[in-house]
Amino acid sequence: MTDRCFFVLLGPDGAGKSSVMRELAVRLPGWRAVSTDDGLVGSGHALVTQLRRNVVRDVLPHLGTSYSTDFLVGLLQTAVIHLRDELRRHDEDVPLLMDSYYYKILAKCRLAGVQDHPMYGWWRSFPRPRAVVYLDVSPESAWRRSGNGTRLNPLEYFGDRPEWLGFESYQKSLRKLMLEEVRELPVTIIEEQPSVTRAADAVVEVLTP
Ligand SMILES: Nc1ncnc2c1ncn2[C@@H]1O[C@H](COP(=O)(O)OP(=O)(O)OP(=O)(O)O)[C@@H](O)[C@H]1O
Ligand SMILES: [Mg+2]
Repeated sequence: MTDRCFFVLLGPDGAGKSSVMRELAVRLPGWRAVSTDDGLVGSGHALVTQLRRNVVRDVLPHLGTSYSTDFLVGLLQTAVIHLRDELRRHDEDVPLLMDSYYYKILAKCRLAGVQDHPMYGWWRSFPRPRAVVYLDVSPESAWRRSGNGTRLNPLEYFGDRPEWLGFESYQKSLRKLMLEEVRELPVTIIEEQPSVTRAADAVVEVLTP
């Protein structure tokens, strides 16, 4: 399973993963980019992006009341399975870069209070990437990139409202949990870059040395 040319692009919220994935289509036309982002999900999988929107719009505002955290994990799992299915459907000869895989979702489920869950073991049994490219960003820069908190969803900060301290603390914990999740894989950390172009340069350099 690890022989295939399958890499994961990981990093905190606002690190620039989606931006880099979009650039990759131009820079590395021979590669396939897999993500649950609107523009990258195939037309036959509109439900994947729809369910993502439902999580933010319908579930997060009523977490702990109308919806349990187990329900949240169940819904987020649909994205994880979609990514696994895309891997299964993929031609193994074509190199593939996947946005976050299950690593970020698993870390966020844990931060939502679900420390352990039987489904985590199943996700962890999914195919392992050859390596992880970890695109880093400081919480300060990510906060600025989010319009000082105006474009955040509740799975990106601690607390009732998006405020700097809750964001910083959440992002530090997220970083720690994601790096812990991939500790047995080869990980290349790319320090924060001043532009998307420079970040894409650095990712391409790791993928095609
Ligand atoms: N290196 C960079 N320098 C400056 N701004 C950047 C950089 N990378 C991304 N941005 C900007 O930051 C914002 C977030 O980027 P993007 O959505 O690509 O991050 P992401 O890692 O996919 O975030 P998420 O984890 O929330 O999906 C966008 O407005 C993007 O233009
Ligand atoms: Mg993204």
